[in-house]
Amino acid sequence: MRIRISGTGSALPKKILTNADLEKMVDTSDAWIRERTGIRERHIAEEETTSSLAAEACRRALENAGKKAEDVDLLIVACCTAEMMLPCTSFQVQDAIGAVNATVFDLNAACSGFLFALQTAHTYIATGVYKNALVVGVEVLSRIIDWTDRTTCVLFGDGAGAVFAEATDEEGMGLLGLVQGSIGSRGPVLQCKAGHYRDVATEIFPYKDSYVHMDGGEVYKFAVRQVPDCIEKALEQSGFAPEDIDLYVLHQANIRIIEAIAKRLGVSMDRFPYNLDRVGNTSSAAIPSLLDELNHSGKLKKGMKLVLSGFGAGLGYGAIVMRW
Ligand code: UT7
Repeated sequence: MRIRISGTGSALPKKILTNADLEKMVDTSDAWIRERTGIRERHIAEEETTSSLAAEACRRALENAGKKAEDVDLLIVACCTAEMMLPCTSFQVQDAIGAVNATVFDLNAACSGFLFALQTAHTYIATGVYKNALVVGVEVLSRIIDWTDRTTCVLFGDGAGAVFAEATDEEGMGLLGLVQGSIGSRGPVLQCKAGHYRDVATEIFPYKDSYVHMDGGEVYKFAVRQVPDCIEKALEQSGFAPEDIDLYVLHQANIRIIEAIAKRLGVSMDRFPYNLDRVGNTSSAAIPSLLDELNHSGKLKKGMKLVLSGFGAGLGYGAIVMRW
């Protein structure tokens, strides 16, 4: 049994923060941000929360798939910016949308999170445990960013994207190549310590004011080497060559990273859609929200060959080859 995606949805916070706004907050410029990253603006949650954005994306994905919340067997929320330690975000979302029959859990693999969650849903469905899954990527990164650190605050945004995936026995459809990888020894290059973690000897919360710290250059080098390799491995499994793929839906971190990956694969940038210019890097929400944009603008046609690929904190990476 394979899975196919039959519905997509996304949600963005109302407030938009432009590069011009950031020029007033830190020593940066619109020109630097656009040239080095491709980002023009991002959405920042004010009234919205991690769970409210995820729930809205889920409602839209269910509506798009023509399903009711009670139909959902499995709900996985990929997220590294939960607003609550307990219960985790998936339980809040289950309650908000009324997915009363679903088994729910969170999965935190940062920017690879949605990829890992979709592969997990695939495994449950392929083995016959569940018939369908709602898979959501959501982040409110603005709450773990140091807004005085120009090396990180210009990069990230908030948002959510969701897909409804269900079993299909249609020949040649669904997920045809899957690769996942984790390099825990590289963790320190992108980290954020947990603020609620108490030192038992001193009774102090040593990481209370901890924010995202990143060695951007190291993450950049990792991405441009590791992502093409893992895409090539996933393509090998599927039997397709890079030029057979209609669209590459990659993690939206930096347009230069996407361009470097396209060059390494020898594929034209026309096949690499992006929305990072308008939403920034939304970590686990990046791939599903871009998929939703493509779906709603009519760019995804049944039978199209897609590659999805994510990478980031962990360090983690993954790729999926699928037919839409
Ligand atoms: O989701 C996965 C996680 N994240 C990523 O994938 C990020 C991967 N890395 C990147 O995208 C890039 O490395 C960055 C966008 C983070 C940085 O771009 P870069 O071309 O590697 O710039 P850099 O770090 O080498 O910095 C170049 C210069 C430095 O100044 P000096 O030392 O040359 O005088 C920085 O201090 O740019 C300076 N700089 C800035 N200037 C204006 C760094 N941030 C800014 C800024 N505005 N916001």
